[in-house]
Amino acid sequence: MLNLFKNKKKDVNSDVNNEMLSNDELPYSNEYPNEQVMFEVKNFNFYYDKKSKLALKDINLEIFKNKVTAFIGPSGCGKSTLLRCFDRMNELIQDSSYDGQILYKNKEIHSFNTIELRSKVGMVFQQPNPFPMSIYNNVSYGPKCQGLKDKKELDKIVLNSLKDVGLYDEVSDRLNISGSSLSGGQQQRLCIARCIAMSPDVILMDEPTSALDPIATQKIEELIKKLKEKYTIIIVTHNMQQAARISDYTAFFMLGELVEFNKTEEFFARPKNKKSEDYITGKFS
Ligand SMILES: Nc1ncnc2c1ncn2[C@@H]1O[C@H](COP(=O)(O)OP(=O)(O)OP(=O)(O)O)[C@@H](O)[C@H]1O
Ligand SMILES: [Mg+2]
Repeated sequence: MLNLFKNKKKDVNSDVNNEMLSNDELPYSNEYPNEQVMFEVKNFNFYYDKKSKLALKDINLEIFKNKVTAFIGPSGCGKSTLLRCFDRMNELIQDSSYDGQILYKNKEIHSFNTIELRSKVGMVFQQPNPFPMSIYNNVSYGPKCQGLKDKKELDKIVLNSLKDVGLYDEVSDRLNISGSSLSGGQQQRLCIARCIAMSPDVILMDEPTSALDPIATQKIEELIKKLKEKYTIIIVTHNMQQAARISDYTAFFMLGELVEFNKTEEFFARPKNKKSEDYITGKFS
C-alpha cells in the first residue's frame, strides 16, 4: 500500500499517456443522455487461478461522472473484483487475467500507467487503514510522493482535505498525533481525506461503513452525498438501505454477472428483473 504512489517503475505493458480528457469533455451516455461517462466497461471477463475461476462474466456497464453508483449483490458475486479492476489492483493477484475492456475517460485503462491511474482513481477499504504515521503525514503522503515539497502548498492540501471530510474541526489541534489513535469513523474519514488529497476523479469504496457504528456510518453517508459534487463515487455495500439512501445508480450482480443496472429509485421501486426483485425483497441474501 505504502508504495502505490512511490513506485516510479514504468509499466511493462503500458505507454505513459499524458493526454487525458478533461472532465468537461467526457462523452455522454447513449442510454442516459444527461450523464457523462467516467468509466465504460465493455464485454469484460475476469478470471482467477489461471482461468479456472471466472469471477466476472461479460460485464457491460457505465459509471457516470459526479454520481454515486452502488454495487450490490450476494457474497462472492464479484463486486470487489470489479471495483479493483478500475484501479488495476486486481492485476497484482497472481494467476489472474481478464479480457474485454475498461475505458477511463474514453481511453483503455492500460494506456495509463498504474501510478497515474491510481492517483486519479482512489480506493477506500472496508477496514480503515491509516498509514502508521501522523494525521498530517497521512494526508500529505500522496502529494509528497508525487514530488510536492512546498510546505505551504502541503499545509493547504491537508487543511482542505480534512475540511472536505468534516474532520478538520475535530483534529486541527493535534495533526501530529498518529492517525491510528483516532476513532474508527474518524480513521475512515482520514482515509477518505488521504484519497482526496490526490485530487482524484473517482473514489472507489469497498464496504466503507461495515466496520463502523451507526453514527459514524451516518457521517460517512452524509459525506458521500456531499463528495459527489466533486468526485465520481462507486460504493460496494451489503446494506440495501444504504444503497437506496446514498446512490444515484445501482448495479446488481449475481454469480459474476450484472443482472440489472438502473437508476436507484427505479431499481428499488420497480426492479426489471425477477432476480433483483427477489434479492431486494429478501428472498435470498
Ligand atoms: N484472490 C482470489 N483468488 C481466487 N479467487 C478469488 C480471489 N478473490 C476473489 N475470488 C473469488 O471470486 C469471486 C468473487 O469474489 P469477490 O470478492 O469479488 O466477491 P464480492 O461480491 O466482493 O463478495 P463479498 O460480498 O463477500 O465481499 C468469489 O467466488 C471469490 O471466491
Ligand atoms: Mg467484496
